[in-house]
Amino acid sequence: MNWQVPLFDPDLGPEEEQALVDVIRSKWLTMGDRTKEFERRFAAETGVPVALACNSATAALHMGLAALGVGPGDDVVVPSLTFVATANAVRYCGARPVFADVASMDEWNIGAAAIERALTPATKAIVVVHYAGYACDMPAIMALAARRGLTVVEDVAHAPCASLDGVALGAWGDVGCFSFFSNKNMTTAEGGMVTTRRPELAEKLGWLRSHGMTTLTLDRHKGHAFGYDVVALGYNYRMSELNAALGLVQLAHVRQRNAQRGAIVAAYRERLAAIMNLGVPFATHRGVPAFHLMPVLLPVGTSRFEVMTAMREAGIQTSIHYRPVDTFTAYVDAGLGPSTQVPLSHDIGERVLTLPLYPSMTIGQVEQVCAALASATQHGRAVATVHAA
Ligand SMILES: Cc1ncc(COP(=O)(O)O)c(C=O)c1O
Repeated sequence: MNWQVPLFDPDLGPEEEQALVDVIRSKWLTMGDRTKEFERRFAAETGVPVALACNSATAALHMGLAALGVGPGDDVVVPSLTFVATANAVRYCGARPVFADVASMDEWNIGAAAIERALTPATKAIVVVHYAGYACDMPAIMALAARRGLTVVEDVAHAPCASLDGVALGAWGDVGCFSFFSNKNMTTAEGGMVTTRRPELAEKLGWLRSHGMTTLTLDRHKGHAFGYDVVALGYNYRMSELNAALGLVQLAHVRQRNAQRGAIVAAYRERLAAIMNLGVPFATHRGVPAFHLMPVLLPVGTSRFEVMTAMREAGIQTSIHYRPVDTFTAYVDAGLGPSTQVPLSHDIGERVLTLPLYPSMTIGQVEQVCAALASATQHGRAVATVHAA
């Protein structure tokens, strides 16, 4: 499809091209000095002592939970309104995801009250997701976790270099898990980062990332080590130098691009206010968001399918973030859903529509999207009414 306005459009240019050529010429293709430099700079940006690059946020979530000792018999609280990987990682550990609802129809993040309702005697950890790049209420969530002796993993896939009360998202919990998939605010094609403010977890995370081995190929190449032991059941979650080279370039621009996204979101909010009965979440929010997604809530009774079809006909790509995880077949079949505890997430899941958002988007394109949505929601409502009649 040749979209006039795509959902996302990664910023990639000559700097990235050169970075990749440099890696190929260096002949060192994985887990080398560029990966180490990417980790060092990412840790500095996030204000944490440890950042380990890996090949996805999914890997980061799996390693983070495993390093915290989550295993069979444990319950882990997760949002229902998230990408499936958040909950899958809990299941990889043999633990049970228990779904918590969003705080309100404006704040589409899980909050301390919903988390508390989802706690069981077996709860070991909480995974929070900073949905669309907006911060969860971390002070309240961390206070609850401390009271109940629980660990907290932050899924920061949507929120690199965002913050709350001057603390980076990903630096609040025990572990932070970032994604650099190609539609994210910064990309390495595929890639992720696991961060922790608990340095004692670093060694475990390092083992889990690379087969439980105690030394890296790079250490042996540099003559720092001759052999290795295998001390844990690890995985191959390593990052390549090609990915890290992209990450170094992208990291240098991400704050400025987040700000550009913020300006686009402000332009959207102004114009979307004119569309009757359309909801735009996070009207109030705290902290500095990363503005990853531009979700809206369609008016009750509108056919989302018709709206998406009309938008597609106008050359505009839209999406759905997200169908609630507990409603997926693989979760229902496993006896993990549908949950009766997440009614707001289910309502959002039925009506959410994600609009295009990327830093190079023009105000003219924002106006084009809003005009198409205004006409499509009227049409969509008419269609829904006809079906209902
Ligand atoms: C909230 C959330 N968590 C986790 C992931 C998984 O990221 P990755 O594709 O890097 O494994 C994504 C990716 O879309 C996501 O949006």
